[in-house]
Amino acid sequence: MSNQPKWLDNAVFYEIYPQSFNDTNADGIGDFQGIIEKLDYIKELGCNAIWINPCFASPFGDAGYDVADYCTAAPRYGTNEDLRRLFDEAHARGMHVLLDLVPGHTSVEHPWFKASMSPERNEYTDRYVWTDSIWEQPDGMNCIRGISDRDGSCAVNFFSNQPALNYGFYKPEKPWQQGMDDEGPRATLEALKDVMRFWLKMGCDGFRVDMAGSLVKNDEDGKGTIRLWQNVREFLDREFPAAAMVSEWGEPDKSLQGGFHMDFLLHFGPSRYNDLFRCEEPFFSGRGKGDVSAFVEKYLENYEKSERKGLICIPSGNHDMDRLARSIHGDNLKVAFAFLLSMPGAPFIYAGDEIGMRHVENLVSVEGGYNRTGARSPMQWDSGVNAGFSTAAKEKLYIPQDESADRPTVEAQMADEGSLWHEIHRLIGVRQAHEALKSKGEIEFVYAEKDAYPLAYVRSSGEEKILVIINPAAREVSFDCALAPKETIYRFGGEIACKDGKITVAPQTAAFLAL
Ligand code: GLC
Ligand code: CA
Repeated sequence: MSNQPKWLDNAVFYEIYPQSFNDTNADGIGDFQGIIEKLDYIKELGCNAIWINPCFASPFGDAGYDVADYCTAAPRYGTNEDLRRLFDEAHARGMHVLLDLVPGHTSVEHPWFKASMSPERNEYTDRYVWTDSIWEQPDGMNCIRGISDRDGSCAVNFFSNQPALNYGFYKPEKPWQQGMDDEGPRATLEALKDVMRFWLKMGCDGFRVDMAGSLVKNDEDGKGTIRLWQNVREFLDREFPAAAMVSEWGEPDKSLQGGFHMDFLLHFGPSRYNDLFRCEEPFFSGRGKGDVSAFVEKYLENYEKSERKGLICIPSGNHDMDRLARSIHGDNLKVAFAFLLSMPGAPFIYAGDEIGMRHVENLVSVEGGYNRTGARSPMQWDSGVNAGFSTAAKEKLYIPQDESADRPTVEAQMADEGSLWHEIHRLIGVRQAHEALKSKGEIEFVYAEKDAYPLAYVRSSGEEKILVIINPAAREVSFDCALAPKETIYRFGGEIACKDGKITVAPQTAAFLAL
């Protein structure tokens, strides 16, 4: 793990799915200018950093995670110059911008892939993971085959139109499997660095890295992929020491070793993140039948393994999961954000979650969204046409919007002091005012028992210690606690009573208490 850029200490991120954010030229699709026009809004909410989903030339078979040209902005969003302007405008407001780097695969339309399909040997022959016969398929992976005269099958990473770039095999076993240090894989890695160099030079502040843990193949413990990222880290330390890197990996002990500053807790894999918000009985539901203990156990395991240094990022949601508001409702959303914004690591708010945008049900898949489409519907800004997202005809919108009469909007929530928007705004303000609550403050869990409420932990930095108590349940709960809180820094919901070594918490209540 390398030195963290200073700005990560108090970064609060806002994830923008550009298609659905703000359309300024009435084609029904969000664009760079739309993001630029909302930078002041994002800043007003309290976020000081953004992550933009892939915005590069693409046939959009997977919403842009199928890149056709890494160094050209998708024309539907604007030009490279517009993107440069976006970086400049963000910087002028003291904000930082991460682009989404998709290192594992391209689209089938990428010129590298087209060249690699040729039966004649060329510079790109080894750029992707090809077997050496059409009759042999790469084991354990899906593949593309029979679409060119090259006698081989090409492994794919995700959808079958996303051919896998070749970073080598940790332990090559077949003649067509190359080692990490072979020429082809080395050239792929250098090409990746060129892409990073291109955008970092233009002013981007770093990357969110897609499927970061799966680059080297047959690499069960991730040792090869860790080594690969360490190599990238050396390059960054040399040329762009201020670049920030966050991985979609979900195993912080590995990714942080690989030189990432931050890793996401994911809705898949071992994190137990779904226990909180997205399972049959989520901990944050008012029903109060959830269990937070397995999540906490796993969190602590990762926290210790990462030597309490790297940042573990807990997102409110993202473009791949159901909207938070699908399972968590009303005041519980506020309690959930009190948790999200008082945990260590850098918080990530998925655009629209700050107003509790709903999951739009029963949509036809758009651009490879499938069940994810409902979490990707266009932002609801105001009470105008198409909720202020676009002036295009309704049928032209990228994805249909939430049609309910009471759909939340930014305008309505900003006008209402009691809204989720305002609660989040307050919470970010409190976080930013206390070192102990920021990304690097330590955490110690005080109460996180199986099938029990509330959740309590102490955040600390130097002399400052803050007890956080979170009770999503719609019933009063209490726990034994010898700590003696002094003043209240933040409270939402009802009363907190401390008496005779016992703390009693009102229903659906969250509080931060100075110790
Ligand atoms: C990541 C992205 C997801 C995409 C996939 C393939 O999980 O978040 O949206 O479909 O990778 O690139
Ligand atoms: Ca547009």
